[in-house]
Amino acid sequence: MTKRDEIYLVPKPIVSDFSFGQETAAVFDDMLDRSVPFYAEIQRMITELVGDFAVDGTNVYDLGCSTCATFRRLSDLERDVTFVGIDDSQAMLDRGREIMEASGFPRRYELQRRDLHSGLDIHDASVVILCLTLQFVRPLHRERLMKAIYDGLNPQGCLIVVEKVLAGETLMNRFFIKHYYDMKRRNGYSETEIAQKREALENVLIPYRLDENVALLRGAGFREPEIFFKWYNFCGLVAVK
Ligand SMILES: C[S@@+](CC[C@H](N)C(=O)[O-])C[C@H]1O[C@@H](n2cnc3c(N)ncnc32)[C@H](O)[C@@H]1O
Repeated sequence: MTKRDEIYLVPKPIVSDFSFGQETAAVFDDMLDRSVPFYAEIQRMITELVGDFAVDGTNVYDLGCSTCATFRRLSDLERDVTFVGIDDSQAMLDRGREIMEASGFPRRYELQRRDLHSGLDIHDASVVILCLTLQFVRPLHRERLMKAIYDGLNPQGCLIVVEKVLAGETLMNRFFIKHYYDMKRRNGYSETEIAQKREALENVLIPYRLDENVALLRGAGFREPEIFFKWYNFCGLVAVK
């Protein structure tokens, strides 16, 4: 069972950078449910899109798979694929494997510990998923990562990207962020939790604007990306090779 996320409940003398270690892995499912608007619906939509593009005999990659929440929802996918989850946090992968094994995940899958900053070996892929992960990749490495994904995808393969995004205009940005923190309050986070998490994520989570993400995908060679989800400062894109 997933524990409640109370990592930032108590005021800390110094708030250190957000990390995807043990403490976060233990409460991660709850953190996502309460911190990402329409998280369950986003995941449901991802499973539908995977169903549209997955091809028998290919690989479906989840980059930054964390605790394998996306794969767990794909157990009924009617395609003979191999699920490949990549993450650089051993704690996340361990937790993911533990949950997958406990629930008897019935599909072929492998989990790889890799840092997306140091290259990527993707092959025979019909689908690549980057759900809330690109924002944690240093901007300097994003172009190279996108190119590696494009090269590893089969023709007609698709990339699904979900990101926190900045609004184009400062005023809108302020409103969107205000509404986002209101959502966190509605989901039971206190002012202290919101403030400390915000501080921890500064310099760790670096969002682009929507148009910058679209340019990144096009620059790698993808056809015109489509928006499949948008809620204030969160956005889902799907692009085809
Ligand atoms: C917000 S979580 C992703 C959530 C997950 N995709 C989901 O939908 O449930 C971001 C994940 O990316 C991983 N990550 C961040 N930077 C990474 C890097 N440079 N290389 C590999 N994984 C990274 C983190 O360890 C974390 O598990």
